[in-house]
Amino acid sequence: MSEFPTRRLRRLRTSLPLREMLASVRLSRDQLIAPLFVREGQGTANPIPSMPGQFQFSADTALQTARRWADAGLLAVLLFGVTEPNRKDAVGSEAWNDSAAVQRLTRELKGALPQMVVITDVCLCEYTDHGHCGTITDRGGRRDVDNDATLESLAKIAASHARAGADIVAPSAMMDGQVGAIRSTLDNEGFVNTGILSYAVKFASSMYGPFRDAAESTTQFGDRRTYQMDYRAVRQAFTEAAADIGQGADIIMVKPAATYLDVIAEVRRRFDVPLAAYHVSGEYAALHAAAGNGWLDLKDAAIEVTTAIKRAGADLIITYFAEQLAGWL
Ligand code: PBG
Ligand code: ZN
Repeated sequence: MSEFPTRRLRRLRTSLPLREMLASVRLSRDQLIAPLFVREGQGTANPIPSMPGQFQFSADTALQTARRWADAGLLAVLLFGVTEPNRKDAVGSEAWNDSAAVQRLTRELKGALPQMVVITDVCLCEYTDHGHCGTITDRGGRRDVDNDATLESLAKIAASHARAGADIVAPSAMMDGQVGAIRSTLDNEGFVNTGILSYAVKFASSMYGPFRDAAESTTQFGDRRTYQMDYRAVRQAFTEAAADIGQGADIIMVKPAATYLDVIAEVRRRFDVPLAAYHVSGEYAALHAAAGNGWLDLKDAAIEVTTAIKRAGADLIITYFAEQLAGWL
């Protein structure tokens, strides 16, 4: 390689067309997945204070929103249920109620917008009265989520979502064996083509705070560190990914995204299944807060961060910026 002054790296940055030609990483609308929160009711669009521009919808307003997203060129949504407090219980049984908010919206979406890919979050924290992602057992005074009892609940939820017409179910509880339990239940019930997007590499993170406001899923005791991963134990990411692929995950996910680009890049290098990354609520809220103070430009920052997630190796990006990005790209 020749050196300066023969080689001038600024030469290829001198004009916009040159820079565009040489942009080897680009975001595309097709690869964005928009999260959507749905609860019972009608005409509801409750703003989520910590997530500007995001709402808790009822099925009717959710459907209007999804229609607008489809018109903007988005192909996929990820549904989360918000449960009325009087419908929560210790095991989260509302989660597998065939007429709960997520199931109803799924049916309506697949009826009205059959081309839209409907992905449903499969977890219990939005449905349990204690806010944990599964059934609690008491082991000698230490309460913890019971892994194997929770698997049965997760499989029931996935089957209920599949009956409603979900294209892909996305288990997020971080229970060992959850992908295998869901795959065998779906297959036994004839849903061989319902896919699984597994939250394979999900770290216990401070970045989920705004989501827990949005989903009303804050834990009533303890925290999620006995099931979500410790962010310092990075090699477990590859064990988790391999386990989920072995159990039948069609797509795997790394979450959060922007502070885990190294993990995304390494998972991309090691595995060949499609890879999603979840740009989570706290990452969204942080950019909004800074932009709201005039400290950075929201559009430029959102595009830069999500492009970085793509550059690290994510095929799909789950982001609350999806609709805005679709307009900006
Ligand atoms: C539920 C779930 C969470 C998120 C996605 N699914 C919260 C959590 O695990 O506490 C976080 C998403 C976000 O912060 O945007 N298991
Ligand atoms: Zn959960």
